[in-house]
Order: sequence, then structure tokens, then C-alpha cells
Amino acid sequence: MDVKIKKEDILPLFSKEEIDEKIKGIAEKLNKELKNEEVCMICVLKGAVLFAMDLSRYLTMPLKMEFIRLSSYGSATVSSGKVNAVDISLPDLNGKNVLIVEDIVDTGITAKFLLDFIDGNFKTKSTRFCSLLDKKCFRKTDIEPDYVGFEIDDKFIIGYGLDYDGYYRNLDYIGYVKA
Ligand code: IMP
Ligand code: MG
Repeated sequence: MDVKIKKEDILPLFSKEEIDEKIKGIAEKLNKELKNEEVCMICVLKGAVLFAMDLSRYLTMPLKMEFIRLSSYGSATVSSGKVNAVDISLPDLNGKNVLIVEDIVDTGITAKFLLDFIDGNFKTKSTRFCSLLDKKCFRKTDIEPDYVGFEIDDKFIIGYGLDYDGYYRNLDYIGYVKA
């Protein structure tokens, strides 16, 4: 067995139903703000995949979806502080409404890297940053997501896209492991 944490060690934090309610709330805001606008969603793989796909199903405007892959976690639970742009190929975003969808903002280094990248390469019509989770306690940048599902304290989160050493992204709830 490769996996170091057993499913029983993951303590539930937010249920499938609570997550769904939050996503509906974020979608409602976006549907209002971006009514009759075309939007290009950028899903940050791998962690944001479940969130982005569930959110997309509640969005009513004409939506494009792009996927990029960034990684920052060096070991299983400690941020490396560096961003590895595994695949950041994007179409021309000049004049587009961009909606970045992330799983979690922790130090904010990944978010800043991506926002700077977009800012440096395109003149978008608008850029919004949406994150399912916001862990403010270790923030090292001045990044504030425009839309947040849940604010959390110092916990290592697993499930609904977020992994422990690559595992458990498929959980339909959000949990944490005891420190
Ligand atoms: P940041 O650059 O430190 O803000 O980290 C952002 C990335 O680290 C996120 O997109 C996640 O993929 C990962 N990450 C940060 N905190 C956690 C956590 O509690 N569980 C799983 N992944 C996390
Ligand atoms: Mg991520």
C-alpha cells in the first residue's frame, strides 16, 4: 500500500450538500455580474477540477473552459513556495472575461503567479479569481480571491479535488487530517 493516510483518518469538514450550496451561491453571483457576457473559465489542474466542473454546470452565460496545470506542493502537506507551470498553454485572452477557478488559496503564491502571468501576457476585459477554499493563515502575498466558498484555518484539507500525496481527490466531501 502506497497511501499513508487511511480514509478513516480523514475527518469530515464540509458535506457534499454544503459544498453544493456554496457553489450555487457563487454561480448566482457570477450569472448576475456576467449576464450576457462571454466567459473563459480557466480551471487550475489538478485540484480545482471537481469544483470547476460543478460550478460550470450552474453557469448560464456562454462559457469556454480552459485547463492549465500548475503545481506547488513539494512534499505531501508542505508548500514548496515555488510554482511549477507544468502546462500553461492558453488561447488569446485579449478582450475576454476571464474566470480563474482554483481549489484553495494558501500562501497565495500560485494565485499571484497565475494572475501575473495573465496580466503580463493579455489585456483581458475582466479577470476574476474564484477559489473554493481560502486558507488565510499562511498567506505570503496580498492576494484576495474575488469569490470564496469556505474560509478555513490551519488545516490540511483533503477531498473534492484536493489530494494527500495524489490520493483522495475523488471524495465528494471536504475533510482534513489531524495535525
Ligand atoms: P499556494 O500557492 O500556497 O496558495 O498553494 C496553492 C496550491 O497548494 C493549491 O492550489 C493546492 O493545490 C495546494 N494546497 C494548499 N493547501 C492545501 C491543502 O490544505 N490541501 C491540499 N492541497 C493544498
Ligand atoms: Mg490548486
